[in-house]
Amino acid sequence: MTLKDKVAIITGGGGGIGSATAELYASKGAKVVIADFNEQAGKKAEERIRNQGGEATFYKVDVSDLEDVHNLVNFAVEKYGSLDVMFNNAGIDIHKPFLEYDRESYQRVLDVNQHGVFYGMQAAAKKMVELGKKGVIINTSSIYAYVVAPGSFAYHISKSAVKIMVTSAALELAPYGIRVVGIAPAGVNTGILDDYRKQGIMDIIEGAQMSNKLIEPEEIAQTVAFLGSEESSAINGSIVKVDDGALG
Ligand code: NAI
Repeated sequence: MTLKDKVAIITGGGGGIGSATAELYASKGAKVVIADFNEQAGKKAEERIRNQGGEATFYKVDVSDLEDVHNLVNFAVEKYGSLDVMFNNAGIDIHKPFLEYDRESYQRVLDVNQHGVFYGMQAAAKKMVELGKKGVIINTSSIYAYVVAPGSFAYHISKSAVKIMVTSAALELAPYGIRVVGIAPAGVNTGILDDYRKQGIMDIIEGAQMSNKLIEPEEIAQTVAFLGSEESSAINGSIVKVDDGALG
């Protein structure tokens, strides 16, 4: 896949899916900005890639902060001279029963998962247009944009929003040669599922998948690499389900 010398920003790059994707991109010759709120995890991901001979730089960002996100995009272009792929992947889930879902939790989930994706898409698209780049924007939705589970009210809303944001932005950015796509993973073996682990209900998630086990982040990374490459040129405005059959 043609990722050599591409410049990619990966938000949530210190986390499970983000760091696996950053490693894969770097191993294919991309220059990666690992953007994350969690400094320790982000720096670790950077170090791992550098130890493998890849090119990566950590940048601390809160994706729910518009100015932060614009600074991130400017940083990537100053550091590596371009912007080809923007992977808006940072995300959180705050689990609470619907009747206890307080305003702060609701707001925070939407700020990060929904508004953060808008900021990332727009900042990247503006920069790509300015640079005359036919780049790709990839957003992480979820199978929870399609089906519901108890305790994830705000998460469902945010991931459904990402689904339509992909199609809507793709339509408007197509004239500039910029593609916008999304992924909808099912249960992936990362820290975001720790609440489920604590509750001892992982079997519900695993059992929904045809292999009866979690997907590994490296498997998701392969799809993100394909979507970020020119080989996926005919995929635009849609969400690719990486769900091991969970949605049937
Ligand atoms: P993770 O918890 O390992 O990674 C999420 C990363 O996002 C963390 O490194 C965290 O520090 C970062 N982050 C959180 N808030 C941030 C903020 N405001 N600004 C910058 N960075 C922030 O979890 P995972 O699974 O790697 O999550 C990646 C994406 O995949 C998320 O959008 C998640 O909703 C989505 N997803 C995950 C699934 C799973 O089963 N693991 C299934 C479907 C979607």
